[in-house]
Amino acid sequence: MNVVVTGGNRGIGYAVCAELARRGHRVVVVARDAARGEQAVRSLPGEAELVVGDLSAVAGMRSVAERLAEVCPRIDVLVHNAGLWPSKLTRTADGLEEAFAVNHLAPYTLNRLLEERLTRVVQVSAGLYVKGKADPARTAYGLDFHPLRTYADTKLCNAALLPLFAERWRTRGVTIDAVHPGVINTGLGARGGPVGLLLRAAKRFWKTPDQGAAPVVALTAGSTTGRYYDGLKEIPLTVDRDLGLRLWEQAGKLSGVA
Ligand SMILES: NC(=O)c1ccc[n+]([C@@H]2O[C@H](COP(=O)([O-])OP(=O)(O)OC[C@H]3O[C@@H](n4cnc5c(N)ncnc54)[C@H](OP(=O)(O)O)[C@@H]3O)[C@@H](O)[C@H]2O)c1
Repeated sequence: MNVVVTGGNRGIGYAVCAELARRGHRVVVVARDAARGEQAVRSLPGEAELVVGDLSAVAGMRSVAERLAEVCPRIDVLVHNAGLWPSKLTRTADGLEEAFAVNHLAPYTLNRLLEERLTRVVQVSAGLYVKGKADPARTAYGLDFHPLRTYADTKLCNAALLPLFAERWRTRGVTIDAVHPGVINTGLGARGGPVGLLLRAAKRFWKTPDQGAAPVVALTAGSTTGRYYDGLKEIPLTVDRDLGLRLWEQAGKLSGVA
């Protein structure tokens, strides 16, 4: 199988790549930093390739899609894993809030640009999406930015498109599911100050990246579509269809794909 994993250079993404490579699959790691990406690819236990690109900018999303199309005419599984939990408001080259771009707009854009080549998509989600309160007109630009809430807002945006992609692809036989990997000790959300200190202390008791990768790897071989999994257990996805439709239209315009 050809499997593409975004953010495959560290954390849960790297553990997913390592397990899939061990199982004999060809892994394509998408990483924004060439040196970090090369180091990851070299240390994977099997066939692996690197595609370098920054998923926070629409130009980066497009160039990643182009490179993927070159190295992978057929993508058996695309794992959207790259993500960030921002501690401060950062706007991208396109003027968008960074987590909105990476967590939500990038998966949408890659799905649309690569859809003719896809068979299965696994979206690494976060259970915290249920706490999200997204307003497309504000969230996209960080006008409602909050160091704790924005992560949940952007993961909600991402989750709201799951049923729409599942519907769009049903007759083509492309499937898409989302999974919350658990609470995992990675670099996600790392920050300075007292909150960062507390977080580092708490993380020592969280699960390992390998444990977080296990349900993601399991889903790569799944055949359901439009479903949401908490670890290995399917649970209902609770998203507002109207919000999803508004976000879909917005993502089409922002990415230029529409
Ligand atoms: N850890 C948890 O408890 C937890 C819980 C629920 C969901 N998740 C989800 O799991 C996924 C993986 O997170 P993690 O915990 O493994 O976090 P992590 O260790 O911080 O890894 C994040 C990955 O995303 C990449 N990334 C960030 N911004 C990017 C950009 N602009 N372009 C390309 N790649 C970019 C990072 O690349 P660099 O190395 O270059 O920064 C890194 O490879 C995320 O979607 C996260 O929301 C994690």
